[in-house]
Parts: sequence; structure tokens; C-alpha cells
Amino acid sequence: MKDLILHNLSKRYQKNLVVEDLSLEVKEGEFVSMLGPSGCGKTTTLRMIAGLVSPDEGQIILGGRDITFLPPEKRGIGMVFQDYALFPHMTIEDNVGFGLQMHKVPRSDIKGRIDRALDLVQLTGLQKRYPHQLSGGQQQRGALARALVIEPQLLLLDEPLSNLDAKLRQEMRVELKDIQQRIGITTIFVTHDQIEALSLSDRILVMVRGCIVQEGTPIEIYEKPKDSFVASFLGQENFIDGKVVSNIDGLINVKSAEGLVLFAPANSDMKNGDDVILAIKKERIKILPEGSYKDIENNRTKQNAIKAKVEFVTYLGTTIQYLCSLHERRIVVSVPNEACGPAFKKGDAVTLLWEPLDCISLTVTKPSS
Ligand SMILES: Nc1ncnc2c1ncn2[C@@H]1O[C@H](COP(=O)(O)OP(=O)(O)OP(=O)(O)O)[C@@H](O)[C@H]1O
Ligand SMILES: [Mg+2]
Repeated sequence: MKDLILHNLSKRYQKNLVVEDLSLEVKEGEFVSMLGPSGCGKTTTLRMIAGLVSPDEGQIILGGRDITFLPPEKRGIGMVFQDYALFPHMTIEDNVGFGLQMHKVPRSDIKGRIDRALDLVQLTGLQKRYPHQLSGGQQQRGALARALVIEPQLLLLDEPLSNLDAKLRQEMRVELKDIQQRIGITTIFVTHDQIEALSLSDRILVMVRGCIVQEGTPIEIYEKPKDSFVASFLGQENFIDGKVVSNIDGLINVKSAEGLVLFAPANSDMKNGDDVILAIKKERIKILPEGSYKDIENNRTKQNAIKAKVEFVTYLGTTIQYLCSLHERRIVVSVPNEACGPAFKKGDAVTLLWEPLDCISLTVTKPSS
């Protein structure tokens, strides 16, 4: 049985249609992330599922039950808000217990359930503290315990890690996934952060202007974005536009405005003269000394080799990022830091090299606001 089904949900605020005809099925135990730009309707969708906002159209089914018009406390859903929303005047124990009182759980059961929830998020021993006496990560886990203590069928997480510093965020990411897998709870996780979405999810939904524009596993979404907007939202930075000049044996030849001729995988229906955008992953490009270009040219084997100049070098510890230029075009290259620092410096002439299968051939779409 599917755990959560959204049928054609729509929501309007005044004249603005902020969620449009959205349909979705989430399997029991699945971890689904919603990724999309600010204002695309992620929180509104979660709030409709939780019962905090009513949809104008559509239906919400949870565990086979139509919950579209049920009040929030009758839905069996736990939600963690971006700002945790812990009550500042209550201890963590009372914060966690609050939901149980709302759900009219017998007094004799409350203490045991609070202790189990706090144990699950490793806050045992801190139950008498107030939120201001806890670190950001501990507060975040308190909010998670409060959502989990009601033993919800569904957990909704609205950017729960966004207030944490980078290290804590990484630790909490692992903990969150661990807790989710241990209790096997169906989870919808909203984030702006592609790394969080890629690392946590069974499935990612990319949302634009109130609609889901692509869904798939993290690998499908990252490796095969359907358009340049999804690709750039997943962190891809290198796009070269041009026209198809040939399509042979699954490879197209693309000519860019400045005269580059590049090989790329063909999409099924591409024909000569079509406009195309090539998205080239920065971590798949090799950066070589300028002289390598001639050798590659001489025994050209359908690799892509272009001459460029290093404009900017960024040392990132585990990787080194080069911003290279070629006429007006900028190409970002990310290489592992294997030689105790950058091998090239600003102003160096270099050759950039990548295989046709390291880029994706995309159709052109306009990003949303
Ligand atoms: N109560 C409201 N009244 C009017 N407009 C609203 C209301 N709540 C949200 N909106 C609008 O609906 C749109 C979607 O908002 P929503 O909060 O769902 O976006 P989001 O995808 O969660 O964005 P973010 O990533 O910034 O949190 C936005 O344009 C927002 O301004
Ligand atoms: Mg939001």
C-alpha cells in the first residue's frame, strides 16, 4: 500500500497559484526530498499535508484514509519546522510531552514515551534543560523528538538543518538518516541544499513554480537532469550552447557560436540544426598543460579538447577549482587535490579535456523566478 498519495493538489493565495495540480505518491518507509528555489511552494505543500493550510483543490490520502479535511492533530503526522519552534518557556521534556497531551495519551504512558523519544535522538540526561540551554544541534534533535514521540505515520521536515553550522549540519545529516532508517518512517524532507537532497533521499522531487518538474533517484536526477534549470539547481555550472551538426551512432556533433565543435551523447529525437545545451560536469573535466592539446588533436578519438586560460584558482582543501576562460565563455573545473596545492596558476594556458559521455545534451527551458 502507498503511504501518502496527493491527488491534484492546488493552492492559491489571492491571485497567486502557489501549488498547481500537484500529484505524488510516497511509499511506506520512503525518504523523499523536495528541492526547489525559494517561493516555489515547498512549505505550502508540507503545510497542506500537515493540515495547517487547506488546499483549494485536490485530495490527500494517508495510509488509505482521506485526511484532506481532518484537523492536524488527527492526521498522525509529525512536522519539524525550519526554526524548530520549540516552546522557550518549557523544558525539553515538556516540549516533547506537549504533543502527547494534545493527543490525549494517558498520563501513565507519557513519561515512558518521552524517555524513549529522547533516547532515540540521544538527548537522555538533558530533559530538564530549556531550549536556550541547548546547542543548535541539540535543539534540532529536541524538535525531532517532539515530532517522533506521537509515533506519526509520516514525518515532514522543513529545512531542519538550515540553521546549523557546516560541521553540525553534516553530523545531523547522518543522524537523521540513521534515525529514519531505524524506525522506518515515511519522510518528506524539504531543502535548498543539493548535497543534503543527494545524500539523504531515496527519491528527489525538483519543484519549480508550484509544480514537480522532475523526480527520480539522486543518481537519476544528478546524472540525467531533464533541462538546464534542473542541472544548474543540482550544482552544474558549465553550459555550452550550440547547434547539432551531425547525429551518428548515438553521438551528436555540436557547433557552438564561437566555433567549438564538440561531441556529446544524442537524445533520441535530435536532428541536424536543433538548438542544444551541453552541460559538462566540472568534476569530469581534466585540466592539462597547453601542449597536450596538440597530442590530443593529432590522434583525435572523439574526445573533447579545448584550449583555455586559467582566470582564477580556488583552493578548497579536498579539491581545487579552476575558473577558466575561452573567449567570452567561463568553464569551471574541479580536480582532487592530489599534489599539495594547485598545479596551475592564474594566467596559465591550459587544455581542458572530457569524454562525450561526461556531458549531457539538454533542451532549453527558462528558469522560474
Ligand atoms: N500565507 C500566505 N499568504 C500569501 N502568500 C503566501 C503565504 N504563504 C506563502 N505565500 C507565498 O506562496 C509562495 C510559496 O511559498 P512557500 O513558503 O511554499 O515557498 P517555499 O518553496 O517553501 O520557499 P522557501 O524555500 O523560501 O522556504 C511564495 O510566493 C509565498 O510568498
Ligand atoms: Mg519554505
